[in-house]
Amino acid sequence: MGKDLNSLIPITMDDIVPNVNLPGDVFFKLSEDNFVVIGREGTREQFKDLHFFDKIKNANIYIKKPDLRKFSSLKVLSASEVMKNDKLPVEAKINTLSQTLNTVFTSIHQLGFNNEALGNTKFIANSVLKIIDETPKLSSLMSIMNSISEDLVRHSMAVSMVSVLISQSKGWNNPSILEKMALGALLHDIGLKEYPKEFLAKPRVEYTAEDLEYYQKHSFRGVEILKTVENIPQEVMAIVYEHHENSIGQGYPRSLRDVRLHPFSKVVALADAFCELTFKDTQNPTTRTPDEAVNFIEHTLGQPFNKECFTALKNVLTFGIRKASVKIV
Ligand SMILES: [Fe+2]
Ligand SMILES: [Fe+2]
Repeated sequence: MGKDLNSLIPITMDDIVPNVNLPGDVFFKLSEDNFVVIGREGTREQFKDLHFFDKIKNANIYIKKPDLRKFSSLKVLSASEVMKNDKLPVEAKINTLSQTLNTVFTSIHQLGFNNEALGNTKFIANSVLKIIDETPKLSSLMSIMNSISEDLVRHSMAVSMVSVLISQSKGWNNPSILEKMALGALLHDIGLKEYPKEFLAKPRVEYTAEDLEYYQKHSFRGVEILKTVENIPQEVMAIVYEHHENSIGQGYPRSLRDVRLHPFSKVVALADAFCELTFKDTQNPTTRTPDEAVNFIEHTLGQPFNKECFTALKNVLTFGIRKASVKIV
């Protein structure tokens, strides 16, 4: 392994679906620049048979960076199979969701967010999964979302984490605020759960005016769906209804301007746009790096989001922090 070392990224055993063929090569780090292949792409995972399994089970193992999406897709796909299985106890389902969350977390980590902020985000995201676990109706909604599209689940989890990162960067540290933020962001596209799969797979650039009108109804449908669940916080409802609004009044469904938007919606609207730009899925086959995404929002879109939220996002990205520290020096 010489030249490819830079493209290796750490994952954990949890990111690997047991008993299926590996979607890419898996490496173990012997020393600083010495990696050994412990699993070949296309072969069945058999790490337990390795004589040094004890060593790898709690350590980071490595995959090639371009393979990350294949690993996380497999993880989400296997999660949706588990979610469809009625016989499995809720705990098993939630456990599966939290493993998917770990995989999404690895992808978010790759985007270059500040490490300390990320650790807390993972904690919040896990406690939100517990809230879902304790609310049967919410866990069944999550199961449905899982069975619709792997992209939707990954997108929802990513938006949830990035929303918490932006919130913390704004100085909002109250766990109950962060949990509501994470829950609202996780459910922001729940209105899409009723849409036909074929429609969701259609590239948005090919939408007709009719398609667009139909698609835009998902904010409203999301609120209707959540009204059937008891004790959904008002902040969560606001996020679901307003996540496609922006601060210059050019969003939907109501074209509200910044002052009239719920503070939580402003965060999720930005996180949603950022994740759409940086995460690859069927709608976005080509993605941008975080700094390209920030530049795109600022210069191409004319930065239509709340200014404080935008600054908070830049500050929590390590490239943003690096820039800031250069200025101070
Ligand atoms: Fe949406
Ligand atoms: Fe979204």
